[in-house]
Amino acid sequence: MNKGIAIYPGSFDPPTNGHLDLMERGAKIFEELVVAILRNSEKSPMFSVAERLEMLRALTGHLKNVRIDTFDGLMVEYAKSMQAICILRGIRAISDYEYELQMALMNRKLEPTLETVFMMPADKYSYVSSRLVREVAQAGGPVKGLVPEIVEQRLRDKIVTAKQAEPRAIEILDRIDLGGKELDPKVAKRKKKA
Ligand code: PNS
Repeated sequence: MNKGIAIYPGSFDPPTNGHLDLMERGAKIFEELVVAILRNSEKSPMFSVAERLEMLRALTGHLKNVRIDTFDGLMVEYAKSMQAICILRGIRAISDYEYELQMALMNRKLEPTLETVFMMPADKYSYVSSRLVREVAQAGGPVKGLVPEIVEQRLRDKIVTAKQAEPRAIEILDRIDLGGKELDPKVAKRKKKA
């Protein structure tokens, strides 16, 4: 198709099989695909930008025309600075459409020369999102088949580390002087048990 650079922006917290599927499809169409991780997201991420960068680099090693980068501020400004011809976004279901349309039109308003191209990941990933993957993994559920193996391992490590840190966090909370305020019932219950 068109020769040129496309930007695939997102949070990728964590990257899923749906993301990877889209990168593979995008890599076939564009001369170069730059997967760009938003750095200044307001959300408190599960994985740091450095961790996401590392995971994405490992996952796309086989795609020679895919580059992983990070960006801050307006995406269209970043895309312009990269001399990109378009923005690539995935649409899984009709529920994605409204948000994606709004974002595409806002980006067009900000930079009329930049087009947004939508692609669909394989239908087997149509229900997979980073948010649901985090939720399932945090609740101890299986995410096999939804994320690449290295992401699955990283999720396991993250959750083990968080579990190990929990008693220490409770201990610290217990020592905090609440200045007459009531203790969180869950903490109070644990304190009573101890
Ligand atoms: O994977 P996500 O979280 O749906 O990706 C959203 C993202 C990063 C593409 C979007 O929030 C973005 O481009 N943010 C950068 C700031 C910006 O340019 N905002 C105006 C776009 S409407």
